[in-house]
Amino acid sequence: MSARILDGTEVAAVVKEEVSKAVADLAYQPGLATILVGDDPASHSYVRGKRRDAGQVGIRSIHHELPDSIDQIELTALIESLNADDDVDGILVQLPLPGDLNGESAVETIDPAKDVDGLHPFSLGKLMLGQPGLRPCTPSGVMRLLDHYDIGTAGSRAVIVGRSYLVGRPLAMLLLERGADSTVTVAHSRTVDLPAVTSEADILVAAAGSPGLIKAEHVRPGATVIDVGVNRTDDGLVGDVDFGAVVEVAGAITPAPGGVGPMTRAMLLANTLRAAEARRGVG
Ligand code: GUN
Repeated sequence: MSARILDGTEVAAVVKEEVSKAVADLAYQPGLATILVGDDPASHSYVRGKRRDAGQVGIRSIHHELPDSIDQIELTALIESLNADDDVDGILVQLPLPGDLNGESAVETIDPAKDVDGLHPFSLGKLMLGQPGLRPCTPSGVMRLLDHYDIGTAGSRAVIVGRSYLVGRPLAMLLLERGADSTVTVAHSRTVDLPAVTSEADILVAAAGSPGLIKAEHVRPGATVIDVGVNRTDDGLVGDVDFGAVVEVAGAITPAPGGVGPMTRAMLLANTLRAAEARRGVG
């Protein structure tokens, strides 16, 4: 039997509609600043998408495009000027940064109140403590997708493949939080006998950046499979899951593209709204 398809494009549209309505009710227009350094085509395409999404929900986009010849000091100065700009509610530095520029240091320069990517150590610390805060967009998009399709996490066994600070680690914390209550395993490139570990999962999240890593043998029949992978190959963009094989085994599965990607972008808008409300004492 073929798995239920978890349609990220459709759920992202629901989130965007919610954000759009909330923005229309505000007495001001939230502003999202994006910083793009260098000429990586993938980064340009991502930021273009984020800015277009912002426009669709009534969020003002403030865009800074910089050559890869800039140095860390100039980048820091730009971020500090955006921190000080009252019309800017959220700041996003598109990662990775080219050359010797330090992405972590750039993110640490962002005012945590404007950290709509949820990647500042302050935001990640709040997540670790289980305190309210801005959450990273991809993990919160995965949680929203599960919630939308009524896929219960309490008492479930969740296995995440990938330990990045963008996805794997923060998602583990979200699934562990009270209310989500999963039992979480984080597997990675050094995990021994990956299929034995992943086939324990009720919820299997592939976030390893390895095209087609997860095959039918990795998946317990009926499990929910979430594909976070975005891999550029000669065959175009492919996920971490061998969709054609796994769709026959899983109970529910995200397509890639059209699964987690649109959710990530939608959660950025939701975070920008939250940051704007929090900064201005609304909501
Ligand atoms: N590059 C890949 N994913 C992300 C993300 O979530 N945020 C930023 N800023 N850059 C990224």
